[in-house]
Amino acid sequence: MGMKKLSIVVLISGNGSNLQSIIDAVEAKQINGQITAVISNNADAYGLERAKKHNIDQQVISHKSFTCREDFDHALSQKLTHLNPDIIVLAGFMRILGSALIQAFERKILNIHPSILPSYKGLNTFQRAIDNDEKEHGVSIHIVTPELDDGPVILRGRYPILTGDTASSLQGKGHRLEHKMYSKVLRWLGQGDLQINADTMIFQGKLLERPIEFEDNETS
Ligand code: GRF
Repeated sequence: MGMKKLSIVVLISGNGSNLQSIIDAVEAKQINGQITAVISNNADAYGLERAKKHNIDQQVISHKSFTCREDFDHALSQKLTHLNPDIIVLAGFMRILGSALIQAFERKILNIHPSILPSYKGLNTFQRAIDNDEKEHGVSIHIVTPELDDGPVILRGRYPILTGDTASSLQGKGHRLEHKMYSKVLRWLGQGDLQINADTMIFQGKLLERPIEFEDNETS
């Protein structure tokens, strides 16, 4: 109702199932927004096909064409400056971004990470959780800061680790949650329920002091 559409750029490296969930939510008008471009560092990413099928601009900036991380970041940064999105969504984007780029788009970059942050930053979170006999694992959506998997967490989802679970079964459970969670955060941003400011986040009119716990059955 009168609110400007959230312009979203999605960065991917691979399959893009999270991208698909966002595309679907935008098309179903669950998000007051539009995906203005999908950028991949990998020309073979299946997510590019998904974008194409839905007539979304796709761009490849291959990290292999650059001799160092700074040059790749610079090219990506120029592209992002040109696109000027409200929000940049990392959805299985498997490159670490340098602090210059992150600072240039401060508090505009979101990431989804397969753990209950701040636990299990980094890779192989599923196997590490199993090896440590954890009883639950999860998914976090957070603001990207220069420190890896470290920025303020917006939304956190959990699922149980049961006897017989493997890294791959946990990944499946995680994906099912992820696909609901990213759209939810973008829905909140698009309708003004969530505001990300320089030092604070406001959620439904109140200062957000701790991560929101995702409830699988909610409809809001
Ligand atoms: C997701 O599981 C996410 O947690 C991680 O990368 C994966 C991307 O999957 N950051 P997809 O490309 O969205 O299918």
